[in-house]
Amino acid sequence: MTLIEARNLPAHVGIIMDGNGRWAQLRGSPRCEGHREGSASVRRVVRAARRIGLRALTLYAFSEQNWARPEEEVDALMELLREFLLSERDELLDNRIRLNAVGNLGRLPAVVRAVLDPLRDESGTAPEMTLTLALSYGGREEIADAAKELAREVASGRMRADEVTPEALRKHMPSLEVGDPDLVIRTGGERRISNFLLFGLAYAELHFSDTLWPDFEAEDLYKAIASYQARERRFGLISAQVAPPITGIRLAG
Ligand code: IPE
Ligand code: IPE
Ligand code: MG
Repeated sequence: MTLIEARNLPAHVGIIMDGNGRWAQLRGSPRCEGHREGSASVRRVVRAARRIGLRALTLYAFSEQNWARPEEEVDALMELLREFLLSERDELLDNRIRLNAVGNLGRLPAVVRAVLDPLRDESGTAPEMTLTLALSYGGREEIADAAKELAREVASGRMRADEVTPEALRKHMPSLEVGDPDLVIRTGGERRISNFLLFGLAYAELHFSDTLWPDFEAEDLYKAIASYQARERRFGLISAQVAPPITGIRLAG
């Protein structure tokens, strides 16, 4: 069992859930079987995150670039997403988990929106944890959208060009409503970001796991958090500025 400290939890954890296709291929099954098992992993990890008291969990479920996959795979992913939202509704509400979604949601099929939109509204009050699904999401696209919003404000005279700051951009990035990610985990063995939360990643701690997403267990989440807790985040400063000074130690004798 991995021990994690209650007082130094990352407030916002992001997960790039990768490796479903390879999990299935290793078993000689169609890729969609991997996505189905991946959906079970989502359930496990959401429960574990809520149990240990994470305030925000963002799951990268479908990228803007994933639309270019074979139609059959995209359709299966959308169907699984709909099934997931339908089957998890009660548990999310019972556990005061607010469900949110970020990305180009207008591209999602109407049958997905029909379950996603009401659940976002219903689960919004007094949450213990916010579960954000990044759907049809791209980090570059989100930055470009935020820039477009600011450009409009400048063009209309509501804002001056020199007020375009990182903070002003951030206000137009829905993925950062819950704060920057403190820890980002990628499963499946690749060491890359693949267009996830680019702006918010500036000072995130990264954890890469070789475990394929369908095999990812609660214990793997705890290991990632324990590794996060063993690190020193310096945000550009030096160690003496961020580490609490060791005081009050008196030797006997
Ligand atoms: C992640 O698994 C799920 C999505 C990107 C939707 P993949 O489908 O990318 O699995 P691999 O990387 O091909 O194994
Ligand atoms: C990243 O995985 C997207 C999601 C997990 C939803 P990909 O499988 O799409 O990323 P690449 O293609 O390996 O970079
Ligand atoms: Mg992949």
